[in-house]
Parts: sequence; structure tokens; C-alpha cells
Amino acid sequence: MNFALEARGIKKYFGPVKANDDLDLRLQRATVHAVVGENGAGKSTLMKILYGIYQPDSGEIFVNGEPVTIGSPDVAHRLGIGMVHQHFTLVGPLSVTENVILGVEPCTRGLIDYKFAEQQVREVSNRYNLTLEPTDIVESLPVGLQQRVEIIKVLFREARIIILDEPTAALTPAETSDLFRIIRDLVADGRSVVFITHKLNEVMEIADDITVIRDGRSVGSLTKDAATEKELARLMVGRDVMFSISKPEVTAGEVVLNVDNLTSESVSGDQRIENVSFSIRAGEIFGVVGVAGNGQDALEEAVTGLRRATQGRIELMGKDITGLSTAQIRAMGVAHIPANRTATGLVMDFPLSDNGLLGHQYRSIFRNGPFINRKAVNEWINRLIKDFNIKAPSLNAPAFTLSGGNQQKLILAREMVHEPRLLLAVQPTRGVDIASIEMIHKALIEARSRGVAILLISNELDEILSLSDRIAVVYSGRIAGIGDPASFTVEEIGLMMAGAGKEVV
Ligand SMILES: Nc1ncnc2c1ncn2[C@@H]1O[C@H](COP(=O)(O)OP(=O)(O)OP(=O)(O)O)[C@@H](O)[C@H]1O
Ligand SMILES: [Mg+2]
Repeated sequence: MNFALEARGIKKYFGPVKANDDLDLRLQRATVHAVVGENGAGKSTLMKILYGIYQPDSGEIFVNGEPVTIGSPDVAHRLGIGMVHQHFTLVGPLSVTENVILGVEPCTRGLIDYKFAEQQVREVSNRYNLTLEPTDIVESLPVGLQQRVEIIKVLFREARIIILDEPTAALTPAETSDLFRIIRDLVADGRSVVFITHKLNEVMEIADDITVIRDGRSVGSLTKDAATEKELARLMVGRDVMFSISKPEVTAGEVVLNVDNLTSESVSGDQRIENVSFSIRAGEIFGVVGVAGNGQDALEEAVTGLRRATQGRIELMGKDITGLSTAQIRAMGVAHIPANRTATGLVMDFPLSDNGLLGHQYRSIFRNGPFINRKAVNEWINRLIKDFNIKAPSLNAPAFTLSGGNQQKLILAREMVHEPRLLLAVQPTRGVDIASIEMIHKALIEARSRGVAILLISNELDEILSLSDRIAVVYSGRIAGIGDPASFTVEEIGLMMAGAGKEVV
């Protein structure tokens, strides 16, 4: 059979790490092929090989039945292969068009022909109903639209084989269904799509075929019709996965965080919160739900001191922290799992050990007078790696060599292990595999039992509803409803998220 793309026996080692250890992938023409597997299983590595970023140590690749060597992304483009990465590669201050044509600028008489380029971008956008304005500045766009810029980039280079590495991780449910419509249009047009995700319901919705990877090996290759979520989970993890959470009774203690009539903007200035008031007690998980872009960023930034409040007060354990710096707020016992792990969570070029220490380097346990006590730090980091099941090449490996989900787990471990008074957890399970979601939810519940106050902001409605003791629904920067999650129906929450609910504050 003649596949759009076929990989056979791919091996790729990074020193002693067997990232790909005999992988096969068969992509049929005009289909969606899901690739699933745990964090660090080797999915992104395989995709980077197919896109010419890495060279395999051994193995064969065929495009339309012809053997090929994909020496660089340029070669991949020529072979009709395009890729949208797990972390975006866009240049924020540039326009949609400038981003799309970067590196392949159309020229007339030696000058870049922007008018022509804009016209072409508009054409592609219209054809696939991407609703992108060619002159818009990329950083001003919501994540879902930024991702479409990445997709146009790929289409502009005339890709027939499109690799999407965790395209839905940062998307809201509505943005995800839009993306699925786009994927279906691409396939109807004869293009073939490789789709990576940790969400098995998405696999069941969009995929035709599925390849399961574990520890760098293909452990299953099946059609969607022959698969169930439960079986996929078992193939990925090697055991049954529990999908339910048990929450012990905890009596909430003193008020840890008190937010009073707070008004603030987000750093980018396109989101704000207005007159927001709530409090969180020790041993309580307070969940914030809402369609992304309704003030969640502004709230996160105000509470962590990344952005000043224009009005109102924030108190931690009764002390006014409004206007304090991030470092001062951290020192008072506030931990922060940020929404954006590559921008604010980690220093990607720094070794894992330094990243695990970030923000705690001045603690006396990690110091020998003016020097860092390396032995104490390494023992500490080894504990994080073990407790949070982080898969890492070595203590000295730079953060970018960790797989996406393992980067996320490293931030979680660093932020949770110091027993904060308040933990601000934003999208804590973004990009992590199902076994890790189970582990992270357990860790949050255990922190709650020990009396940590938790402010949970997440796009995953199920996650918020199953973990939270109280929830606030935000719409357009205001709290549209607040209370026990059981006191709302899912429909009521949906209405409030859409701005159609009745005020119940
Ligand atoms: N440049 C590199 N140097 C060293 N090790 C690497 C490098 N890139 C990846 N690895 C290692 O290879 C393994 C596979 O990583 P990969 O990124 O392919 O995983 P993944 O399946 O995409 O995981 P995730 O779901 O977390 O994104 C991991 O153990 C990772 O640490
Ligand atoms: Mg990956």
C-alpha cells in the first residue's frame, strides 16, 4: 500500500536517552492519524525527525512510497511536509502576513511584495474560513487565532502532510471545535494530518487511525473504530487509569487570600477584571471558570504582583499585599504555576537543577554562605524528580531537552513542594498525560488536606468542578456567579460563562 508518509524502525538516542527506539508510523492519504503516549514517550521527537529538525540514528522514511532523507525543514517543505509545533514559533510584534512569509518572502524586483503576500494570506484564510486579518499584529490575537497563523504558514508552504503537535493543549473547547472543523476541511481537500494530543475524547472525535507510543516504541496501531478510550489509556500507561477523584472532608481554616473590590488590567492590556471580590480559606480549593479571555490573565497577574491593581485591595493572611513585588509576594508564601510555562515558568536554557531551584535559591538550606550548596540542591531536585515522576535526561540537562509535559511537571514540583500558604494553579494539567493528570489532581487534593489555600484557574470545566470546594464564574472581567459547584447545573454555568446568566453574587 502506498501511504502519504511512512516511517519504519525509527531510532533516535540522545546520549543514553532512547527517545525513539524502533518506531513505526503509517499515515494514509487524506486521513487524520492520532499519535498518543505518555509525557516523554517520544512523540515530538518523531515529529521533529519527520520535519527534518533531527536526523534519526537509523530507520527509513517514505513519502508517497518513495524513500527520502529529510535533512532539514527546507527539505521537508519541498516534500510537502509542514509542522505546527507544541510551542508556537511566531514573532509577536509582527503582523499575520509578516509571520506567514518569514523566510519565504515573495519578491518583485528585489523588494518584498507585501501587497501580493497579504492577498495570498487572505485567500488561504478565506478558503479555510480561518477569519484572519492579514495586517493584524500576532501578539494581540487570542491563542486560537495565533494557532491559525501557524496553520496558514504551513499551508502557504504548500504542505500536503501536516503535523500538529498538541494543537489543542492551549485551546478552549470552542477553539478546539473550530480547529476540528479546519482539520476536516484540510482532509476533505486531500491533505493528511498527524495529530498529537493527550485528550482521548479528541482522538475518538477526530482520528481515523491511531498509533500508541510507549517508551519510544510503537505499542499499538489501530483504527478509531476498533479503539476505546479505556483501552488506549491502558496501552499508553501499561495499567488501568482511574478517571475519578476522591476528595476527603476538610474543614476550611482561616482566610488566606482576600480579594476586595479589585480592578486591574492584564499586562497585554486586552483583559481586565473589575470590582472582583472573593476570599479563599486554608484547606479550600477555589476554582475560576470562564471562557478564556474574560479576565483570568488579569486576575493571575494581579494576585502574583505581575501587574498593579488600579483599585481595590489584596490581602494575604490579613496583610495588605496590593502593590508588592512578585518576589515579596513569593516570600510571603505564595506559589504560582503559570499558564505559560515557556515564557514565565522556566528558563529554557538553564539546567533542570537551576530551574527546580528558581525563586528558592536564597533559602539557607541551599546555601553555603555566599555560595550555592550544590549537594543540597541536587538532593532536593532528585526528590522532586522522584515525587513527581519527572522524566529527564539528567540533572544538568537544559530545560528545553525535557518533553513538554515533563517541563510542566517540573514547575508543579517546584511550586508545590515548599508548602505555600496560597497556591495559584493556572492550567495545572496543560499538556500532561492522563496518568500525570491523576497524580497532579491527587497532589492538589493532598495540599488542600494540609491546609494550603488553592486558587485554581483552568479551561477544563471537569477539572474545576471535580476539584473545587467553591467556584466563581467570570464573564467580561466580572464575577457572574459564585458558590458551591453543586449549587449550579452545568447549563447554568454555561449560561453564566456566555454572559447570559442571572447575577447570583
Ligand atoms: N534535545 C534533547 N536532548 C536530550 N534529550 C531529549 C532532547 N529532546 C528530547 N529528549 C528526551 O527524549 C524523550 C522524548 O521526548 P519527546 O519530547 O519526544 O516526548 P513527547 O512524547 O513529545 O512528550 P510530551 O507529551 O511531554 O510532549 C524525553 O525523555 C526527552 O527528555
Ligand atoms: Mg511533545
